[in-house]
Amino acid sequence: MMKELEQLPIPLLLWYRENARVLPWRSDPTPYRVWISEIMLQQTRVAAVLDYYRRFLEAVPTVADLSALPEDALMKLWQGLGYYSRARNLQKAARQIVENFGGVFPNTYDEIRSLAGVGDYTAGAVASIAFGLPVPAVDGNVLRVVTRITGDTGDITTPAVKRRITEALRQIIPTEAPGQFNQAMMELGATVCLPNGAPLCDRCPGAEFCRARL
Ligand code: ADE
Repeated sequence: MMKELEQLPIPLLLWYRENARVLPWRSDPTPYRVWISEIMLQQTRVAAVLDYYRRFLEAVPTVADLSALPEDALMKLWQGLGYYSRARNLQKAARQIVENFGGVFPNTYDEIRSLAGVGDYTAGAVASIAFGLPVPAVDGNVLRVVTRITGDTGDITTPAVKRRITEALRQIIPTEAPGQFNQAMMELGATVCLPNGAPLCDRCPGAEFCRARL
């Protein structure tokens, strides 16, 4: 599995530099902004999130504002995004940050993972993108990209396969650009290594060594 993955970081980062979509949470990746974006992006596409994200950040710019926001205002900002437990957990987590971390966004993987609504994927995304910590962020797109490149025929819905892939990525994630790397993996899955129908292999930075393509 490693021999294909080891070849990926350099071409992937070069590709990402040219092809990254310009997104509001990318231009100013503070922990709060990255966290809000990752929660909104759970179960919701980038295009559908953009307007909600701008409105939310405008109305609720800080953890302290979120912790004090009236419930009806929170629900109004979330109206239409669906999966309302995400919004409730967001506020619960903001209150955890106030109570347990003195209002300062925690800066370790385990502390971030302890926040309401934050699972392995979201903890990895925030830790790497906002804090530069070298931890993987493995979502469905990343599982698909890695199993294709490595020719892994395991069932990506099983915890064992997810664990195996997370460990493999931990070995190759570039310590100088973990957030770029994780976002590049997601971007490749979302725009090139497509799930349904033909992937766009002629645009893929991993095409030369991808087992699935071979
Ligand atoms: N989906 C979830 N998080 C993302 C991110 N940071 N960039 C692009 N797509 C995403």
